Amino acid sequence: MKAYEIGDTSKGIGLRLVDRPALKPGFGQVVIKVRATGLNARDLSILKGGLMGKSVPSTRIPLMDVAGDVLLVGPGVSRVKVSDRVTMTHYWKWLDGAWDVSMREEDYSNTLDGFLAEQALVQADPLVKIPDSVTYEDASTIPSAGLTAWNAVIEAGHTKPGYTVLTIGTGGVSMFGLQWAKMMGARVIITSSSDAKLEKMKALGADVAINYRTTPNWSQAVLDATNGRGADVVLNNVGMGEMEQCLMACASGGKVMYIGANAVTPDRKDAPPTALTRFPNLIIKDLTIKGIIVGSRRMFEDLLAAMATNNIKPIIDRVYAFDQVHDAIAYMQSGDKIGKIVIRVG
Ligand SMILES: NC(=O)c1ccc[n+]([C@@H]2O[C@H](COP(=O)([O-])OP(=O)(O)OC[C@H]3O[C@@H](n4cnc5c(N)ncnc54)[C@H](OP(=O)(O)O)[C@@H]3O)[C@@H](O)[C@H]2O)c1
Repeated sequence: MKAYEIGDTSKGIGLRLVDRPALKPGFGQVVIKVRATGLNARDLSILKGGLMGKSVPSTRIPLMDVAGDVLLVGPGVSRVKVSDRVTMTHYWKWLDGAWDVSMREEDYSNTLDGFLAEQALVQADPLVKIPDSVTYEDASTIPSAGLTAWNAVIEAGHTKPGYTVLTIGTGGVSMFGLQWAKMMGARVIITSSSDAKLEKMKALGADVAINYRTTPNWSQAVLDATNGRGADVVLNNVGMGEMEQCLMACASGGKVMYIGANAVTPDRKDAPPTALTRFPNLIIKDLTIKGIIVGSRRMFEDLLAAMATNNIKPIIDRVYAFDQVHDAIAYMQSGDKIGKIVIRVG
């Protein structure tokens, strides 16, 4: 089977196409025929050879999102059968209940081979079935960006009708944040560097659209748009450099979901957020900063049920073929996209 390995990253992205031997499932495992995968901000770090200060071996198959068919089933597997349409999360050990940091150790695309390949050997436990109404391409956008936004808006944010949800940027996580928040009946404020993108956001249902380049004090614009009240749930999809304004944009009792861990712009600044040192902002407004780490299999099943019931379509900017991976990465790096980039595999 054909697969891309991250290859020699000494001069940047060094992807190489290789032939790998046929995969055979062991106990509790399955082999998936990969139909679609896609790009996330974190993938760019792995494609450059490391993640959070740790290197990734040159033989690693990258990309953590997957949608495909079950091709082979190993002994002891009853969750799925051959031909089932499936997807899964990359931290496969988080099935339900609370997250534990030890679950990070087994991570498809990082410590285990990922999905930029014709086939993949995976554990059966994390697999979730794709509803008939959801295409492979749509399903392949959800495991990281869709589930993270679901966790932030629904599980941790407890978004209710009438809430104001602020989501920053127009990347993969933010687009799902917009969709889940609208599904819950919230008012959505979104920011972007581009007026053209903001026009598209309004067409997608955003109630207020703010250009963070031309309005550098965008947290004040959020307060102005909410009669001084602020946002109940804020998706910080960018990083610590934006945390101060996220806190300033909060309503009393507001929650900031800290999601952005990998650079989303080449010039990202990770300045310490001064609002954290201004105790009155945190205490007088009773704010919470909540770390978000993707989501569990149970959350993923809830998400897919909601998606099918509400006929929600992920925002996909472009779909590339398996042999156009380098073009897909270049487009991701251009910063021009809205939402997701998909790679169709087979
Ligand atoms: N915690 C988790 O479990 C988890 C899961 C998934 C992703 N993430 C992280 O979440 C972040 C976003 O991921 P993604 O896949 O959605 O990235 P992405 O698709 O690359 O989107 C990045 C977007 O960030 C926006 N942006 C950049 N600088 C900004 C700034 N200063 N202020 C506001 N927006 C800014 C840009 O929006 P415009 O082009 O509109 O300006 C850009 O489109 C990454 O750091 C990623 O690693 C974390």
